[in-house]
Amino acid sequence: MRTARGGPGRLPSPGAPAPLDDGLRIVEGDFLSTDSIPVGSVDLVVTSPPYNVDVRYGGYHDDLPYEEYLRFSGAWLAKALALARPKGRLCLNVPLDKNKGGQQAVAADLTTIAKNAGWRYQSTIIWNEQNISRRTAWGSWMSASAPFVIAPVEVVLVLCKDGWARREPGRLSDITREEFLAWTNAVWTFGGERATRIGHPAPYPVELPRRLLKLFSYVGDTVLDPFLGSGTTLVACRETGRRGIGVEIDPAYCELAARRVREAPAPTPPGAGAGAPRPGRARPTSDGLTGRPPGRSP
Ligand SMILES: C[S@@+](CC[C@H](N)C(=O)[O-])C[C@H]1O[C@@H](n2cnc3c(N)ncnc32)[C@H](O)[C@@H]1O
Repeated sequence: MRTARGGPGRLPSPGAPAPLDDGLRIVEGDFLSTDSIPVGSVDLVVTSPPYNVDVRYGGYHDDLPYEEYLRFSGAWLAKALALARPKGRLCLNVPLDKNKGGQQAVAADLTTIAKNAGWRYQSTIIWNEQNISRRTAWGSWMSASAPFVIAPVEVVLVLCKDGWARREPGRLSDITREEFLAWTNAVWTFGGERATRIGHPAPYPVELPRRLLKLFSYVGDTVLDPFLGSGTTLVACRETGRRGIGVEIDPAYCELAARRVREAPAPTPPGAGAGAPRPGRARPTSDGLTGRPPGRSP
């Protein structure tokens, strides 16, 4: 894995983690200003941006006025679209809504902003996280005067650039029959990740990007997370044999992400292990582990 500060050509700072795996890269900096990711190079964007709910991040103020937050969202969604290749995809994990600082339909607003930025809507996955800590107030207790109704769920908005179908003969899908049947039902139920366990205030569990990668990308695809945080998306990339680029503005989180990725298990080669694709259903290509055809660069 390589880590880079800011733009191309800059070396990792002293003490930065040693390079580990050329298929995975962490860019330390602001996603809006980094120019180290080639335009049109990304197959799949998987991310959870700041939610604007006053989370205490080290290098970012998560309490913008809502209109400013929407402008920021439009800017990074437009940049992500430019970095995506034709038929590139976006999986955007956000809350369904929020009531802290005023009721807002976050998922609906971001869907509209993503479409205005040029992304094409495909579907929405409900992540039934069952996180009752989202409940911060009752509004009115056992009274019709002003009750608050809160869904303990988040969503993953699924969008694409230009079109949905990616018919690419020879590319490897590593999803099993059971996973495909279960995960194409768009209500996913599993718990969230504990901030204290990871050392980041808002990590998602590796199960979330793992499912998204296996469902929406081929082995060997290039995945981008513009808001890498503790590195969970790159951990899932490593485990599933995808290439990955993560951008994170906070140097301490970059270090944390690098450590987690280094410690993540290596991918299971096609044909081995319980999660391996069934013979005859997946189509391994000639470079084995990554499934990337010879000569294809990110
Ligand atoms: C919700 S967290 C992502 C958590 C991540 N999915 C994980 O599992 O750890 C959002 C992250 O975006 C980072 N961030 C905020 N603004 C940024 C920007 N302009 N460019 C890059 N990273 C940014 C924050 O520091 C924070 O770590």
